[in-house]
Amino acid sequence: MLQVRRVIHSFDSMTVLSDLSFDVPAGKFVCIVGPNGCGKTTLLRLIAGLARPTRGEIVLNGKPIQEPGPERGFVFQEYALFPWRSVRKNIEFGLEMRGVAPLQRREISKRYIDLVGLRGFEDYAIRRLSGGMKQKVSIARALANEPIVILMDEPFAALDCQTRNVMQEELLNIWDASRERKTILFVTHNVEEAVFLADLVLVLSHRPGRLVEALPVNLPRPRDRISPELHRLRGHILDLLAAQMPREELLQESCEVVRD
Ligand SMILES: Nc1ncnc2c1ncn2[C@@H]1O[C@H](COP(=O)(O)OP(=O)(O)O)[C@@H](O)[C@H]1O
Ligand SMILES: [Mg+2]
Repeated sequence: MLQVRRVIHSFDSMTVLSDLSFDVPAGKFVCIVGPNGCGKTTLLRLIAGLARPTRGEIVLNGKPIQEPGPERGFVFQEYALFPWRSVRKNIEFGLEMRGVAPLQRREISKRYIDLVGLRGFEDYAIRRLSGGMKQKVSIARALANEPIVILMDEPFAALDCQTRNVMQEELLNIWDASRERKTILFVTHNVEEAVFLADLVLVLSHRPGRLVEALPVNLPRPRDRISPELHRLRGHILDLLAAQMPREELLQESCEVVRD
């Protein structure tokens, strides 16, 4: 359904994505893992249509992506919500922008508030919510526009480990309960998270990002986080990532990041 075809992306003289190609089948949960700075956010922005690839193309249902569209929803790492607006007003934002009538907006937002389990919090201001609840609002807001693809950029990275685990389970439940199975592209640098969630894990190389391996995860859900299969997959992906860059270079690179 979504095809990334020989995408190259550069900022000035720095190539961030190099000759990246992969296909995403409809209705699948795809996780993209890769080291910091390998171009994961850039890739999602290209798919969202917020930027155009330097070379190559990204095709959604046969049409090259040129600009943002309502069939693609975005959930960011930082919440990107209006802190002073209520839960309901945040979820209705996109609908309001599209000129959906108030009564219909109310009906749609109610459906997604129920779906993500925020009933009773409709009138709370965002700033009064916990991190996990804020991310539920972001997910409900993305779903309210009825996208066919949801792009998620490290949505749970800012959450503590326990909340993150709960949110992963909630996300799978929401995905399962939504009317048609959405296609999800979920970026994370957390390998454990990727193998727990995904039907397919795409492992990207160190910058410039290219596809190192596409690993199907054919395990039934709900998955057991400590099962030997997940453990083995996780080990394999960590080996792939470790092989990307020698330890010394990796440490030097993180020094540079700190110095910036
Ligand atoms: N708008 C931009 N202009 C210049 N450089 C950018 C821009 N956006 C990202 N970069 C650089 O591109 C590289 C990849 O960034 P990003 O896609 O955010 O990686 P990731 O999400 O995998 O950590 C980084 O080195 C980053 O500094
Ligand atoms: Mg990023």
